Amino acid sequence: MTTQTTSRSPALAVARVPATAPAAVPGTVAGDLEGPAVRVRDVRREFGGRVVLDGIDLDIAAGEFVALLGRSGSGKSTLLRILAGLDAAATGRATVPERSAVVFQDPRLLPWARVVDNVTLGLKGREARGQARDALAEVGLAGRERDWPATLSGGEAQRAALARALVRSPGLLLLDEPFGALDALTRIRMHRLLRDLCRRHRPAVLLVTHDVDEAILLADRVAVLTDGQLSHDERVRLSHDEQGRLSGARHRSDPQFAALRARLLAELGVSDDEAESRPGAAPDATTEIGDA
Ligand SMILES: Nc1ncnc2c1ncn2[C@@H]1O[C@H](COP(=O)(O)OP(=O)(O)O)[C@@H](O)[C@H]1O
Ligand SMILES: [Mg+2]
Repeated sequence: MTTQTTSRSPALAVARVPATAPAAVPGTVAGDLEGPAVRVRDVRREFGGRVVLDGIDLDIAAGEFVALLGRSGSGKSTLLRILAGLDAAATGRATVPERSAVVFQDPRLLPWARVVDNVTLGLKGREARGQARDALAEVGLAGRERDWPATLSGGEAQRAALARALVRSPGLLLLDEPFGALDALTRIRMHRLLRDLCRRHRPAVLLVTHDVDEAILLADRVAVLTDGQLSHDERVRLSHDEQGRLSGARHRSDPQFAALRARLLAELGVSDDEAESRPGAAPDATTEIGDA
């Protein structure tokens, strides 16, 4: 395998490695996969002398789903932008797959381009259109190819943004609070969709979120960013995982879910009570995703 090293700035060395995403193997657990797809070492970033990232080390295996939690302003988006190659002023070293794709909270669809053209944007080749149709079908937007973005609901627009990311077969999928603007019910559907898509395509995933439940529901590992450093990095081990049923549902009723949630909230400096009373907190029954 060849490694193409490009210095994106005098300071940050980013190596982009040709796609190493393994083939989709239903039921495969992340630990079985080759890795790491992402290797971050001593990444630092400051803005006007204020240190935001203070020496980040992070590995993500191929096919592994990592959620990054942190308080607002802790530097989550800054780290994601660095991995996306959108920040030239950071320092340190990062190895990322050659192909990565980013989904932001705002779907960022071009209003003057039809849905299918938004998905193929920047792609070359005659197959692009067919691939875009397939990707749109995968996210539940079959038949909406010729629609204008303005006619899509918030959830549908975000589905289109996911299709635009997937059609590039990314080795690394970067998600920055992708469901933050959606209502609770739509968010649950999107959780399920994202989980299924990731199982099928197996990119390495970094999901930035401030939602602890979302992190536990979706991720193989949860990291917490505090004061510019990863203060916590924990594999999600729930009861069903230990029984070898990784494809099973994750339930808030699982005592291990509650225990992990409490640990993460403590790491974030939030009590369980505060989290329960937070506006928009979804009730228990609606934060479970399963295969049923
Ligand atoms: N381009 C920028 N110029 C100056 N400060 C910035 C810039 N981008 C981010 N910051 C600052 O860096 C800190 C981390 O921002 P960000 O990574 O967006 O936080 P998060 O995504 O965790 O909420 C914030 O204090 C923010 O104001
Ligand atoms: Mg952010």
